Amino acid sequence: MPTTTTQTPLLDRLFEYVEAEHPRSLRGLNEARGQDPKRFAQIAELYLRWLVEARGETGIGAAADAFAQFSTDVNLAQARYERDGAYANKTFAEVYQDHYSDAEAMDGYLWGIYLTNFLWAHHYQIMTFFQDRFMTRLGGEARLVEIAPGHGGWGVWALAHMRGAALEGYDISPQSIKIANSVAEAAGVGGRAKYVEKDALDLEKVDAESADGCICSFLVEHLEDPQHLYKVISHLLKPGGVGFITGALTAAQVDHIYEYRYESELVTMCENAGLRVLETLSANPFRTLPKAKFMPRSMALLVQKRVNAIY
Ligand SMILES: C[S@@+](CC[C@H](N)C(=O)[O-])C[C@H]1O[C@@H](n2cnc3c(N)ncnc32)[C@H](O)[C@@H]1O
Repeated sequence: MPTTTTQTPLLDRLFEYVEAEHPRSLRGLNEARGQDPKRFAQIAELYLRWLVEARGETGIGAAADAFAQFSTDVNLAQARYERDGAYANKTFAEVYQDHYSDAEAMDGYLWGIYLTNFLWAHHYQIMTFFQDRFMTRLGGEARLVEIAPGHGGWGVWALAHMRGAALEGYDISPQSIKIANSVAEAAGVGGRAKYVEKDALDLEKVDAESADGCICSFLVEHLEDPQHLYKVISHLLKPGGVGFITGALTAAQVDHIYEYRYESELVTMCENAGLRVLETLSANPFRTLPKAKFMPRSMALLVQKRVNAIY
């Protein structure tokens, strides 16, 4: 049957491409989709429509190549971490030099991550957590801040749901600003999203208590001193405002510096920064290395800026 007659032409095209070019990745895609095929299709088709709008018809193949490369790099980094017992990079400066400032590397990296959001089964779980638990708590006119938007997908998704909301995003990578702008334009929310190149740790100079919602996904493990970042999130949120924070635990990647080992470490950092932890989800890949010492996990936290010292 021609793909154009299906309701998910772009998702079908992605699966066909992966089957032909990256057959070893197909099992993971089926695991992600198998959790809730109807909802998965809705989310994936939306993300893929923005991708094609932003990058043109060849965008799906290029992003799928980047996804396969990124997944391979992550598996190799995890195997090295199992061997060495520590992440390879220790300082932010080395990662910035070799990675964030390299436009070509960042381009593939960010589009690869864009697809991991729903193509990695455990990250798909985090997407549904974001949609069900975070987005539903915000009013339609919410003022949002996104820290380290990368590809911009999280914030753009929120804006697409909340017609009166506006977002400011801050990322240290010029390539992120470019891609996030292109995704926002593709989704028709460009007029409500503004992205600025900036180190998240300098955001304490941005207006205090000005945001109803804050999104900060997969940055905490990229920093030497993540506690500072939780304080920034708390600084930006209005009392009672809500935050969506995600972080990786015992999960190696070229740009992961801070090694979280236990879920409670993220919770404690939130609490130390004046944030109440409302809900958490800790998710892991369906398959890991045999006899692994470390289980790579991704954790999502729904937090609320405390109104007083206790809650
Ligand atoms: C793993 S990506 C996360 C992208 C996206 N938030 C997501 O969850 O898919 C990490 C992002 O953090 C950005 N980043 C790293 N250090 C940063 C810093 N100090 N300030 C702002 N952004 C930073 C990188 O440029 C990159 O876009």
